[in-house]
Amino acid sequence: MSIHPIIKMGHPTLRKPAKAVALADIETTEMKALIADMIETLHDAGGIGLAAPQINQPIQLAIIEVPGGPSRYGMIEPIPLTVFFNPVLTVIDPEEAGYWEGCLSVPGLRGFVSRPQHVRVDYTDASGKDATLELQGFLATVVQHEFDHLAGRLYVDHIRDMTQLVFEDEWLAQQAPEPID
Ligand code: NI
Repeated sequence: MSIHPIIKMGHPTLRKPAKAVALADIETTEMKALIADMIETLHDAGGIGLAAPQINQPIQLAIIEVPGGPSRYGMIEPIPLTVFFNPVLTVIDPEEAGYWEGCLSVPGLRGFVSRPQHVRVDYTDASGKDATLELQGFLATVVQHEFDHLAGRLYVDHIRDMTQLVFEDEWLAQQAPEPID
């Protein structure tokens, strides 16, 4: 296993639609090694999701792992480590909510992005089986952010008010301290 460099905004791979993965290529030794490397790279970077294009592999593969628990967005349900091939996202309810998103390929910045909060994901799992997930709230935002990477999009494309694209250190400095009681 090895940690791969994460490419940053400006690298052309991040702006190209990724290729669908053939079923025959999913359970190969090479693909298992790539997934293991992506998991190691994600853990090393301390993120909650990584798409293959972010390590310069232009294929429709992403991994997501959300620990869950209390956060500034309230209590978040966990997503155990999940491998998505060829995900197709369907909006169930278009009502939107916004979060301050960050991205391993856009280090040091945060941007406020509104997205639909109730979606379904149809995908192929790591063993080549069809699978479906229905997600709401913050987790709906997480999957939309990750799967955007497979279409050559970045969260910054969705920012409607550019005063809401900020440096992360300034953003953290402006956060109200946790209430103490
Ligand atoms: Ni990202």
